Amino acid sequence: MKRILFPTLLLIVLATACTKPYSPQEKLTANDAEINAIIAQMTLEEKVEMLHSKTNMSSAGVERLGIADINYADGPFGIREEGVPNGFQSAGWTLDSATYFPTGSALAATWSEDLAYKYGTGMGREARLRGKDVILGPAVNIQRLPVGGRTYEYLSEDPILSAALALYYTKGVQDEGTAVCIKHFAVNNQETNRGSVNVKIDERTLREIYLKPFERAIIEGGAMSVMPAYNKVNGDYCSENEHLLNEILRGEWGFKGMTVSDWGGTHSTMGAMLHGLNVQMTGSNYLGQPVIDSIATGALTEEQVDEKVRQILRVRYAIAPVPADVANTEMTSQPESQRIAREVAEKAIVLLKNEGILPIKAEVKKIAVIGQNAVLKTQSGGMGAGVKALYEITPLEGIRTRAGEGIEVSYAPGYKNYPGFRWGPAPAEPNPLEAAAIDEPADPELLAEAVALASTADLVIFFGGTNKSIETEGSDRKDIKLPCGQETLVQALYEANPNLVSVLISGGPTDLQVLEPASPAIVQGWWNGTEGGTALAKVLFGDIAPSGKLPFTFPKKLEDSPAYALGNFPGNNTGGDLFTLMFRPDVIKMTPAERQALIDALPKPESDYTERFYVGYRWFDTQKVEPMYAFGHGLSYVIFDYDGIKASVKGDKVKVSFQLTNEGEMEADEVVQLYVQRLRSNVEWPEKELKAFKRVSVKPGETRKVSLEIPLADLRYWNEETNAWDLEHGQLRLLLGSASDDLRLTAEVTI
Ligand code: GLC
Repeated sequence: MKRILFPTLLLIVLATACTKPYSPQEKLTANDAEINAIIAQMTLEEKVEMLHSKTNMSSAGVERLGIADINYADGPFGIREEGVPNGFQSAGWTLDSATYFPTGSALAATWSEDLAYKYGTGMGREARLRGKDVILGPAVNIQRLPVGGRTYEYLSEDPILSAALALYYTKGVQDEGTAVCIKHFAVNNQETNRGSVNVKIDERTLREIYLKPFERAIIEGGAMSVMPAYNKVNGDYCSENEHLLNEILRGEWGFKGMTVSDWGGTHSTMGAMLHGLNVQMTGSNYLGQPVIDSIATGALTEEQVDEKVRQILRVRYAIAPVPADVANTEMTSQPESQRIAREVAEKAIVLLKNEGILPIKAEVKKIAVIGQNAVLKTQSGGMGAGVKALYEITPLEGIRTRAGEGIEVSYAPGYKNYPGFRWGPAPAEPNPLEAAAIDEPADPELLAEAVALASTADLVIFFGGTNKSIETEGSDRKDIKLPCGQETLVQALYEANPNLVSVLISGGPTDLQVLEPASPAIVQGWWNGTEGGTALAKVLFGDIAPSGKLPFTFPKKLEDSPAYALGNFPGNNTGGDLFTLMFRPDVIKMTPAERQALIDALPKPESDYTERFYVGYRWFDTQKVEPMYAFGHGLSYVIFDYDGIKASVKGDKVKVSFQLTNEGEMEADEVVQLYVQRLRSNVEWPEKELKAFKRVSVKPGETRKVSLEIPLADLRYWNEETNAWDLEHGQLRLLLGSASDDLRLTAEVTI
């Protein structure tokens, strides 16, 4: 019997190993036989119909053959309300109120893969409740510019942190049966001239910094679709960029899914067809009839169309369509998602400074909350990323609920709110709390009212920052100054009552040179989602210890940041932009030749990334420029002790362990960070680089052994001579600590 059993078992194991797809991307090819059979039944017209939009948020299936349309949904932190079929205007539905999750930079401030995964599951579930197959997210571009309009939407200035969160967000969404469309591929780091700017970047920087978040989500996470960005990279639009879409994405990373252009980001028929685009969103002037015409002339072949359709159908087959009688029959926002949003919000809040004033003391019985950012909702705005939330707890609501009857909480607006560029006519009656310009000085009446309230309070909580019209898709900030006279106000409040906490409600960094000396405590509160006010109150009152860490550097002043210090931005980013033009009705009516002539006449904006891989803290550390607050900075209500580091190289990993002790009186999370310094290297490196991190919960008085590891693959550099990844052997110094500027233990290893 034995003689038969063993060989049979071996055959079964071998057979399984040969047939079972082995990588996340390979899984997408599991249905290829059936897909090829379907393609063989399709007419050319049916195939080409799949290559472009059907409605503003869908692309066609093949009804005759039972292939469902593909439905897309914005945005990265909440399923956007239903739009009308041919545009973004609200469809006026009622069940499409969604959970508003903390925005990208807030999620990144948790430094938690576990929370990124849960976040993704919440998004994936709510997408399916809406009948959506693909979420247009996560948005994972590196935050190169502090002024970047979408810095709040993105994750971090660091590729390792961004890549880890992009990977787990992707896993979470796709484990719920929804596809991600990770965006914007690639090097989409400014909104100025975003539709035509040509980014000039060296290969090493491209690989080691800007592609990393996409690489992990696609190779390890199996991201099923990718959205090429609006801009050009080294001369070619991303939506027809051979190097990005065919050589790297498909050739090196083995991507088997589909690419979906950004809305209005397709630029030609042949470019798109030959260099890697699958679906034109929106419109069919490139990937519609012109494809059929090109086949007729022999410029294209039907096999080229078949390959595009095959890649699209792989995603369609991987995502079970939501039955029409199930979709949109329940409220989109679900309690489980709301709970996830609150957990993320609680762990995103960053305590930047605290001279003992937080948590709020028991003797505080009168709190003055000053600043419109305590009451403004932050769910909408930001174009594609806006969310119609089922509810949103503002900071003032959260504080009042937590304070209860025993503490008096008063409020004053303190400053005017700048509503951003007004698209339509000004209202008949101007809103007295709206500013006409972002740099409008403090309003004397509002200031006097706020100071009077502050003077009689036990504690002042000042809410400053920006808003979703100041930081938004479509435009970059001109600077990072606090708007509308907030600096004057916070100084006056501090003069009146030094028991003052400043809370910043913003997505990107702001200039704190004036606010910092006038604030014994400073909290970065983010755009923190549906439960943001509840989470903030729990931190301020000490129910939980703050545990967020900055995912980007707060420069003392904008000019200290690399792209500004080198004059690379704004640089020559001036003149018209194709992106704004292409939606103009007169331009849309133009013939392709007329439109091309218009495009050819446009100035050619360029962004030259001469800072290379010295992005964020890599620049500040190497140039020895002191920031206001460093990458990875974030205080707690307890003190953590680090002790007993051990480090070794085992197999293909560097392994580090140490003891972490919570010396405080309450449970708290610590995000431990492991940086690497190269010693006596023959290769140019930044001063140090983050290579591993871990969020750890520790009970009061408890000591926990913490282990981290760095895959040797993450220590490679892109060798521009061999045009390949290369691992330089030599001595490494490992720096372990609580922030990039708060390193507690070191060790050295040789790889
Ligand atoms: C926008 C954005 C993109 C969004 C798309 C659809 O212009 O760049 O992130 O998903 O169009 O709204």
